[in-house]
Amino acid sequence: MRKINVFDTTLRDGEQSPGVNLNFEEKMQIATQLERLGVDIMEAGFPGASEGDFKSVQAIANTIKNSSVTGLSRSIKKEIDTSWEALKGGAEPRIHLFLATSPIHMEHKLRMSPQQVIDTAVDSVKYAKERFAKVQWSAEDACRSDIHFLAEIIEQVIDAGAEVINLPDTVGYITPKEIFEMFSYLKKTVPNIDKANLSAHCHDDLGLAVANSLAAIEAGADQVECTINGIGERAGNASLEEIAVALRIRQDYYNAETGLTLKEIKRSSTIVSSLTGMAVPNNKAVVGDNAFAHEAGIHQDGVLKEKTTYEIITPELVGVHANRMVLGKHSGRHAFKEKITDLGYNTSEDELNKVFKAFKSLADKKKEITDEDIFALMTEEKAGE
Ligand code: KIV
Ligand code: ZN
Repeated sequence: MRKINVFDTTLRDGEQSPGVNLNFEEKMQIATQLERLGVDIMEAGFPGASEGDFKSVQAIANTIKNSSVTGLSRSIKKEIDTSWEALKGGAEPRIHLFLATSPIHMEHKLRMSPQQVIDTAVDSVKYAKERFAKVQWSAEDACRSDIHFLAEIIEQVIDAGAEVINLPDTVGYITPKEIFEMFSYLKKTVPNIDKANLSAHCHDDLGLAVANSLAAIEAGADQVECTINGIGERAGNASLEEIAVALRIRQDYYNAETGLTLKEIKRSSTIVSSLTGMAVPNNKAVVGDNAFAHEAGIHQDGVLKEKTTYEIITPELVGVHANRMVLGKHSGRHAFKEKITDLGYNTSEDELNKVFKAFKSLADKKKEITDEDIFALMTEEKAGE
């Protein structure tokens, strides 16, 4: 079974979500939870971006010992020095350097020739290597870059000392088949590729971030970059919980595993959602409120008889205490009876028939029937006896 390293960037790319601004204590709280979740690497921030980011990255690097702590840095010596000051107290000081490699970025943003980009990348990796235990290098906008240029620059940065090569789909443009082909091609053609780990970093502009990350893993990526609840720049990053649970539930297919403690997933999601103020949609896979809720009568009946009829993930796997039966107009007698028994009622068949009828008529007017509604229905039924 292949081990996939989980690189969490909730505190860096995730914090780049519009409207999110975490304070020092909030970042420490998230970092502590990420360590409990068991992420291999956490990107604590961008130390050169602000005094606040520097301080929180430094504190996280000095505190967290069971995950490797990293920080993002442009390929500029002064910024590498700043990152070193922030990260040097970590268990395994690690820097994440990036430089764009796509024609659009090189021409319009960097205003550099491809050769200048190669020289800058190589110089920055060599400079960082003199300080850091581990250097990760990212080809920003890799998925819109020329594949031959990408192969060339990757070979040179590995020679310069980079041990992790990250290939971001910066604008969420690539498709699963294309990313599979891109990783496969680079693995096959870059002569020194075995000296480095390959990493995927996918954005969700087309809603493909998780599918693309999994396709990259299939093609041999050793590391996946993601965030809790999929938060991040624009439409967000690949969602950590979805990738981790897909790898576990479809282990038969991927033959790969993470080192995460999956039962910490729900707690991680709740903490990140409440501290960032970014609500988790009810229908979000794995962590949404409806992920383990069943409303249709046929589904409820099936789950009550045998959970695997409609549940491929057990709620307990991700730290959710039980599945939830939502009582509404689609619910059947089986789930209804289960609910009133749970609430402490012991009804005769006749009583059950009457109160079930009243319940159905209420459910036609109201989306979800609460425990209070059921108490009221039962009280009326008892009063009419
Ligand atoms: O999306 C991206 O390209 C990034 C890099 C800076 C790694 O976040
Ligand atoms: Zn990104």
